[in-house]
Amino acid sequence: MASATTPLLADDRRNVDDSRMSDSEDEALRGQSAATHSGRSLYLRLREVLLFVWALLATAGILILAVWISHHQQTSFQKPSGKRNLVFMVSDGMGPASLSLTRSFRQHVEGLEYGDTLTLDKHFWGSSRTRSSSSLVTDSAAGATAFGCAKKSYNGAIAMLPDHTPCGTVLEAAKRAGYMTGLVVTTDITDATPACFSSHVGYRLEESSIALQQIGKGALNRTVDLMFGGGRCHFLPSSDPRSCREDDVDVVKIATEEFGWNYISDRPAFDEFWEGQKDVPLPMMGLFADHDIPFELDRRNMNDIYPSLSEMAKTALRTLEKATEGSEKGFFLMIEGSRIDHAGHGNDPAAQVREVLEYDKTVAAVLEFLDESSAEGVMVATSDHETGGLSVAKQLHADYPQYLWYPAVLANASSSSEYLAIKLLQHLADNSLSSAEADMASLSEDELAHLKKYINDELVVKGLGIIDATPEELNTLVLYPAISQYSFAQMISNRAQIGWSTHGHSAVDVNIYSSGGPGTDAIRGNVENTQIGEFLQHYLGVDTQEVTRILKADKESKAKVTAGEPVLQSERVEEVDHWVAHEAQVGLAAVSAL
Ligand SMILES: *[C@@H]1O[C@H](CO)[C@@H](O)[C@H](O)[C@H]1NC(C)=O
Ligand SMILES: *[C@@H]1O[C@H](CO)[C@@H](O)[C@H](O)[C@H]1NC(C)=O
Ligand SMILES: [Zn+2]
Repeated sequence: MASATTPLLADDRRNVDDSRMSDSEDEALRGQSAATHSGRSLYLRLREVLLFVWALLATAGILILAVWISHHQQTSFQKPSGKRNLVFMVSDGMGPASLSLTRSFRQHVEGLEYGDTLTLDKHFWGSSRTRSSSSLVTDSAAGATAFGCAKKSYNGAIAMLPDHTPCGTVLEAAKRAGYMTGLVVTTDITDATPACFSSHVGYRLEESSIALQQIGKGALNRTVDLMFGGGRCHFLPSSDPRSCREDDVDVVKIATEEFGWNYISDRPAFDEFWEGQKDVPLPMMGLFADHDIPFELDRRNMNDIYPSLSEMAKTALRTLEKATEGSEKGFFLMIEGSRIDHAGHGNDPAAQVREVLEYDKTVAAVLEFLDESSAEGVMVATSDHETGGLSVAKQLHADYPQYLWYPAVLANASSSSEYLAIKLLQHLADNSLSSAEADMASLSEDELAHLKKYINDELVVKGLGIIDATPEELNTLVLYPAISQYSFAQMISNRAQIGWSTHGHSAVDVNIYSSGGPGTDAIRGNVENTQIGEFLQHYLGVDTQEVTRILKADKESKAKVTAGEPVLQSERVEEVDHWVAHEAQVGLAAVSAL
């Protein structure tokens, strides 16, 4: 990782402007002194004095006007007139190419006209520049810190600044100002995006600490009223086989007993609240998967186990509206289509289009809610960054490229490559085979042929919808099962002629979408991601300074207690590929989860 103190482009530009301004000031001063020396007559002197007085008065007038205007603007921002609801949506890892991909895919599957667009397309607002303080290519942690705190920070930072001091978030400030707050995601609720609104750690993988802060064990006490998503394993003590905590702390127990949380962990419990049949008691923590909620492509076949993003979002909206019924303040809700990013990391276009469609459906549900709500409300949606370097065309051969791609290939897939990879590992485990390369090489011809047949019939044909796998592709799958997820995804991508440039993130600008509404002009056009964070605070009329002060005081008092201890875990600045970490986590848990 590069130095966290690398100056941002914005700062460089300010320096340039400053020097340009002082040059012109010098010229003005020189001109004035020359005039003084050349002017000899009384008339000229008088004129000079009058001009000076006039200039003085004019300057004073302009200053007074400027102060008045800025004060006026501030008060109209700081004190919104009535009750307000703000729904901030994040499509993690979704760049502009994902929209073209999904739009055409949908038109193909549903037989729509070329002019048919997604709900998102109809609410296009602008675009966002995404770099972090440490890299031109951001990660989700720095990306979400720009939203939560409206500040640039380093890759890996969870609502922490480059100087390793915590920054108060819009959610925390909103809670203290009397708003209700919620987080809805499809990955672990402790993952970077939701964490950057509700916790402060130096490095994103400190999820054991994030979980505790999210339930209220921190300097600010409880700031979240509703959490829906995955990541249950971070809330279970390490003595529980499903746990992924570093310690034996039972976070669910602390949450319910010390902080009054209501806790649900499965679909039947979630369904009791569907469409307002029963009011959701707050605070409510609904954790529906040990890790991620499955990709929408797979979840459709496990609908009795996991709720979808749009279902969780609808229940959250209804709940927060009801809970603020008698209040002068509304709510702040962050909804994340978390796994668009994962489909990008896995280079799986079949999984990605279904993730984007479900996100689009959720956007439509939010807009419908805002339309029907009697309170004023705004929806702003954007991405933290693009993932995968997706391109909606791929040249497969040396001869001149074809101008086309094939949505039909994606439509034929009924499972994600992630799901099929887990199934393959499960199959190997069931047959007492390891996925190690060396063990594969030692299999007999017969065993290999047997395994190849299973892979082709059960996974490639049934799962990917591919009926023409080549011998090379099947050989790769049978010899390197540990990376089968990438192999499956490549088979789909090549046939659909969809390109990817990386298994990581890219620096391309991402889109902003909005319902429109008071103050949203501030994020029109091409803006810095921190400007979106500033908008969130302005719209709610909250200020994070006081929260930051409390957090800093708390950190300093704790630092005194622990002084003398070696380097904090949060001081680790080396880059860890979070996807590798994520995959390792999921890989370990996945086999037993199936
Ligand atoms: C958190 O709760 C404790 C105990 O109720 C209280 O003393 C403290 O002031 C609270 N902190 C904040 C920031 O509200
Ligand atoms: C989709 O699957 C069907 C049935 O197996 C097959 O006939 C068709 O060729 C497939 N389409 C593509 C584009 O792979
Ligand atoms: Zn990512």
